[in-house]
Amino acid sequence: MKSMRLIGSLSCIMLVMAISAVAQPSSSPAPVLDSAGRPLQRGVEYYINPAITDSGGRFTLINRNGSCPFYVGQENVSGLEGLPVIFTPFVEGETVIRENRDFRVAFSAATICVQSTAWKLGEKDPETNRRLIVTGEDEGSRKARNYFRIGKASVGGDIYQISWCPTEVCPICKFDCGTVGNLVENGKRLLALDGNVIPVTFERKA
Ligand SMILES: *[C@@H]1O[C@H](CO)[C@@H](O)[C@H](O)[C@H]1NC(C)=O
Ligand SMILES: *[C@@H]1O[C@H](CO)[C@@H](O)[C@H](O)[C@H]1NC(C)=O
Repeated sequence: MKSMRLIGSLSCIMLVMAISAVAQPSSSPAPVLDSAGRPLQRGVEYYINPAITDSGGRFTLINRNGSCPFYVGQENVSGLEGLPVIFTPFVEGETVIRENRDFRVAFSAATICVQSTAWKLGEKDPETNRRLIVTGEDEGSRKARNYFRIGKASVGGDIYQISWCPTEVCPICKFDCGTVGNLVENGKRLLALDGNVIPVTFERKA
């Protein structure tokens, strides 16, 4: 009887310990998970896939109009190769990509353009009034245009959306934040803020 009670209170203590181990301190938000449920890591190659069929293929570099720099866009259809990206958290020493934390993201690829393959928020496109994602280095002192973040999409599961809102890079700045969607220009799919949103998944390159 006595030992039963002891086991009962022990398991109660263990339950409390398990709950507090699961609860994340607010200073380290949940890691972003890849399509196999593993946390995204700094310096590892991932393909970015649209979570919904019908919204184009994997993310890749797009030669928008025959000149440099290349733009960030998508394969026209799913099933094509695309290009992997590498994430680098803004916080030095952080090895995991966490929800709503700033990172640089660059295609792991070489192009004929001399520019880097890092994603950069571009100027507003006059035709569509949307801001495209281009490649290159932000020449500003904070390089804020080179920092993006990932948040959970409302659909649930390990499905995410990518946005530009670099408040870790500059906490006092007022950004016109936006979430990544796409637009089609001359048959080419370009990523753009200020419109639709593409939910995505991250597939670790084998
Ligand atoms: C490409 O776009 C740039 C910027 O809009 C423009 O100045 C240039 O003339 C275009 N080049 C071609 C080949 O269409
Ligand atoms: C998608 O199709 C357009 C039009 O045929 C083509 O110009 C473009 O290069 C294609 N995109 C990719 C990523 O191959």
